[in-house]
Amino acid sequence: MKILVVVAHPRTDSLTSSMAKRFTEGLTEAGHEYEIADLYAEGFNPLLQPQDEPDWNNPNKAYSDEVLREMDRIRASDAIAFIFPIWWYSVPAILKGYFDRVWNYGFAYGPAKLPVQKIRWIALVGETQAKFEKREYHLLVQQHLNVGLAGYTGVQDSNVHFMYNTIGEFAEGRQETNEAHFAALLNEAYRIGHTF
Ligand SMILES: Cc1cc2nc3c(=O)[nH]c(=O)nc-3n(C[C@H](O)[C@H](O)[C@H](O)COP(=O)(O)O)c2cc1C
Repeated sequence: MKILVVVAHPRTDSLTSSMAKRFTEGLTEAGHEYEIADLYAEGFNPLLQPQDEPDWNNPNKAYSDEVLREMDRIRASDAIAFIFPIWWYSVPAILKGYFDRVWNYGFAYGPAKLPVQKIRWIALVGETQAKFEKREYHLLVQQHLNVGLAGYTGVQDSNVHFMYNTIGEFAEGRQETNEAHFAALLNEAYRIGHTF
């Protein structure tokens, strides 16, 4: 499979970026091909301007060159993996803008469906799993990503992998060191790539 790996983080030395690296190592080991779309590094502009505003009467509207390039990258892929930190119980703004602009009318929805078979979301969560789930934020995020985004664009095979406790503030009584915890998270990213 050819997988488009969309990464959203302002720093290339972040845990998110390391996760993306381990994930792609897993993909390669399993014989997959991939292309990285590092939205910050590539200077992706998340602001939707009039040229990329959908025209409900014209699904073939000529969108901006940047959007057309991103659509081509998706067309050249069988699947997409998104790797990003959870910011305010959602995706970073640059990724929201990617959906606003690239997953556009006539390409991802309306008379068309997003032309990929599957989507995986690797979401880094600062909080512990217990704290995150206490207010059911996992359900909120799953509903948003699996139903609001993947489902709406016709991709049924969509799964969210939460990577918890990414800041390393462990719950009291926990035995694991930060080092061991981050190593386990990176191994999990590799496993998700390897079993993609
Ligand atoms: C603007 C912002 C908003 C955040 N919102 C949340 C949040 O809603 N829930 C949460 O668990 N962590 C939140 N965090 C923590 C990040 O998820 C955490 O810093 C990140 O997963 C760590 O990975 P990184 O080192 O690659 O950035 C937020 C961080 C930032 C900077």
